[in-house]
Amino acid sequence: MMQIHENHSLLEHNTFNLDVKARFFIEYESEDDLQKLLRDEYFMSQTFWHIGQGSNLLFLGNYNGIIVHSGIKGIEKVKEDNETVWLKVGAAEDWDSFVSYCVDKGWGGIENLSLIPGEVGASAFQNIGAYGVEASDCIEEVHTYFLKTGEKKIFRHTECNYSYRNSFFKETENRGLYYITHVIYKLSKNPEFKLDYGDVRKLLEGKEINLKNIRDVIIQIRNSKLPDPKIIGNAGSFFMNPCIGKEHFEKIRKDYPNIPFYQSDNNKAKIPAAWLIDQCGLKGKTLGGAAIHEKQPLVIINKDNATGDEIALLAEEVRRKVKEKFDITLHPEVNYI
Ligand code: EPU
Repeated sequence: MMQIHENHSLLEHNTFNLDVKARFFIEYESEDDLQKLLRDEYFMSQTFWHIGQGSNLLFLGNYNGIIVHSGIKGIEKVKEDNETVWLKVGAAEDWDSFVSYCVDKGWGGIENLSLIPGEVGASAFQNIGAYGVEASDCIEEVHTYFLKTGEKKIFRHTECNYSYRNSFFKETENRGLYYITHVIYKLSKNPEFKLDYGDVRKLLEGKEINLKNIRDVIIQIRNSKLPDPKIIGNAGSFFMNPCIGKEHFEKIRKDYPNIPFYQSDNNKAKIPAAWLIDQCGLKGKTLGGAAIHEKQPLVIINKDNATGDEIALLAEEVRRKVKEKFDITLHPEVNYI
């Protein structure tokens, strides 16, 4: 069954909680429906955009086209051996419910990604990450439909070009051209735990180290820093953490000996954008109804009936200040529509 709505409010479909409207909103619930949609000449002649739960989107205004959403659900065990289990998961499954399901079954790999808002399809698109783990660590295949031909295409892990918050599907040339229907997740029955990010290990002291307790600790850390989008609109980290070259890094370190950083690929330093924004004195800064979150300045919040424009303007101001002070350009993790 395909659901089609006209003049549809997107309030429930974006975690900034912006009350914008789409001219049409279509939700398909099966691969058959999706194939029909992709064969429909009227649909294909329109402007359209596929969304998930909208936890990484900023609508700058009403959308004068068709917003498409997958309703494909289901978690199915497709293979299993002594060590590993392979699950085929529908793109519309709620991400954290999926994590919780795996933790309950004793299957490890994604427990550090607890409480990230969004859907399973987006986890594979965006390569969500937190506390030393990325979704791509456990993704075996991504099942998609290619818009230009309407054909099904399965991507093996290596074909997905995964890197920090990035994938083949997110690259400019491919963006919007592949609709993800299912993701094959590969989880471990004897997981190796990743406890070395931030306070994870410390908060586990005195507790048994198991999937359930790791999940609980991750939830505890997130709740202490990140606002719950159901209460205060936000899209998690607004910017990606930037990587800079050695020389540039040493130049900044002269003035800021305590600058935090991680070693990143090709000999670059990855700097927490939260620190850069904090150093610019921007915590709590507001513009209209938008504000920089006090506890984690990488998060922009809808504090008081903000518009998409206000959020975007505040983000621009952050970029300008960070560029002025550190000569570093921040890139949004959030997608503007
Ligand atoms: N910091 C400050 N001031 C602050 C807060 C943080 O200077 O007020 C500095 C501290 O040095 C701190 C560092 O920033 O050690 C890093 O902060 P945090 O551990 O909170 O992580 P992050 O780098 O800001 C990233 C991800 C988050 C993810 C956490 C945990 C990105 C863009 N963000 O944030 O992901 O949850 O690590 O792994 O990579 C998201 O993508 O939406 C998201 C929330």
